[in-house]
Amino acid sequence: IPFIEYIPAADTDYANKRKRTLAQKALEKIKVNLGKTYLPYINGEYVETDKYLDSVNPSRNTELIGKVGQISIEQAEQAMVAAKNAFTAWKNTSVKERAIIIDKAADLMEQQRHELNAWICLEVGKIIPQADAEVTEAIDFCRYYAREMMALDDGYNYDVAGENNRYFYQPKGIAVVISPWNFPFAIATGMTVAALVPGNCTLLKPAANSSIIAAKITEILIEAGIPKGVFQYVPGKGSQVGNYLVEHKDTHVIVFTGSREVGCNIYAQAAQLQPGQKHLKRVIAEMGGKNAIIVDESADLDQAVVGVVQSAFGYTGQKCSACSRVIVAAPIYDIFLKRLVEATKSLNVGATDDPSIQVGPVIDASAKEKILQYITIGKQESQLALEVSVPEGGYYVSPTIFSNVAADATIAQEEIFGPVLAVIKADNFDQALTIANSTDYALTGGLYSRTPSRIDRAYRDFEVGNLYINRTITGAIVDRQPFGGFKLSGVGSKAGGPDYLLQFLDPRVVTENI
Ligand code: SER
Repeated sequence: IPFIEYIPAADTDYANKRKRTLAQKALEKIKVNLGKTYLPYINGEYVETDKYLDSVNPSRNTELIGKVGQISIEQAEQAMVAAKNAFTAWKNTSVKERAIIIDKAADLMEQQRHELNAWICLEVGKIIPQADAEVTEAIDFCRYYAREMMALDDGYNYDVAGENNRYFYQPKGIAVVISPWNFPFAIATGMTVAALVPGNCTLLKPAANSSIIAAKITEILIEAGIPKGVFQYVPGKGSQVGNYLVEHKDTHVIVFTGSREVGCNIYAQAAQLQPGQKHLKRVIAEMGGKNAIIVDESADLDQAVVGVVQSAFGYTGQKCSACSRVIVAAPIYDIFLKRLVEATKSLNVGATDDPSIQVGPVIDASAKEKILQYITIGKQESQLALEVSVPEGGYYVSPTIFSNVAADATIAQEEIFGPVLAVIKADNFDQALTIANSTDYALTGGLYSRTPSRIDRAYRDFEVGNLYINRTITGAIVDRQPFGGFKLSGVGSKAGGPDYLLQFLDPRVVTENI
């Protein structure tokens, strides 16, 4: 395999009728395969379990996607032992051989793209074009990290006369990946291959709601030739097996994307030295956001309205990168709000296997309930500007807009993770920036403005990991917008960027007197 340059994958062009037919055919094919059972994969084998969990389609919650075997604590321990046993050989496998396996996985994902899109669409209620973007991102993670690791493998030479100094990297050991349901394919793949390609043995514990998509990742890695024990698929309850693996004395790296509450708990748990543990654990935690877009009076409103609607209601507001606050300059506040409400009203809400749908359901009943509670709070503390009726039969929540929201209101400070947007008025640009920076989070942010001095100011003072100017604030691309935030959004690492793999490695230096 020529590891020359990294070339990003392309999304499917659904303007092409043939591609639309392929998407439809893949959905039909998957629908006759629903209801199967998926088993955990431990030490190179699929294993039976005592407990199973149903995974349902959030668009039609009586539709069973499949059943997923839930591992016990004993099986979690077996997976740990298998990972430990496989580590030395994997560590000593050349980076090139490891990279070839991960590259092969990317090729398989490309071949299976339409079917993978269909699984994502049905298991987590994502529209097909957005599922497709996820598969692209997963492919990019594989190819990018494979090449990044090839480059890192060269290390550094600091030789001087009479003394050779070599700086090189070795894998940390065992990585536990705890993946989210909202980017069930891209983020689970990205975190997993970033652990594997540097030489760590990796256990993937997916979110319950997206375990079948993680089973598909498992099938792909097996077909790509991942050795026994090196990668294991360990679905199970977070509060039991998740905790067990996080606390395990042999875990070296915990790679987590999910809620702030769980992320902070993992951080604390990982800091506790366990009996027999001889190292400090590394935690890579990507958590929430309360992302704001500022629209000033010089903005192109046609662009701003579309950008805010897409950023706020794409995947029903369930992206950590989603816009949940829009901060609007007073002179254009009324006109912007009116246009925003009209544009949002026109969104089609419904089941995501229908190509005319733009906004699907939320992930499950408890998410729906939590979001509805926030909508109730919103009605008490601000003004309801839009709520529409939604279909029955799935976990649907109306795209909802609140106006005249105070910057410190609950719905302007807490992450809702649903289709709820707070519109806040700002008297001037300084105040808009202060409001934008006033939450616990620092993940994404946006500015619509045609004033160069304000754009410069935002560069410096808009405190987020990923700032987008005059465009949408979701959909970061590998090797173009390395993604991740700081403050209580995460540890400050950047997925799809040049520093990411360093977190899975221990650097060493060998000095030889010659
Ligand atoms: N990387 C995703 C985005 O940029 C969020 O996780 O939207």
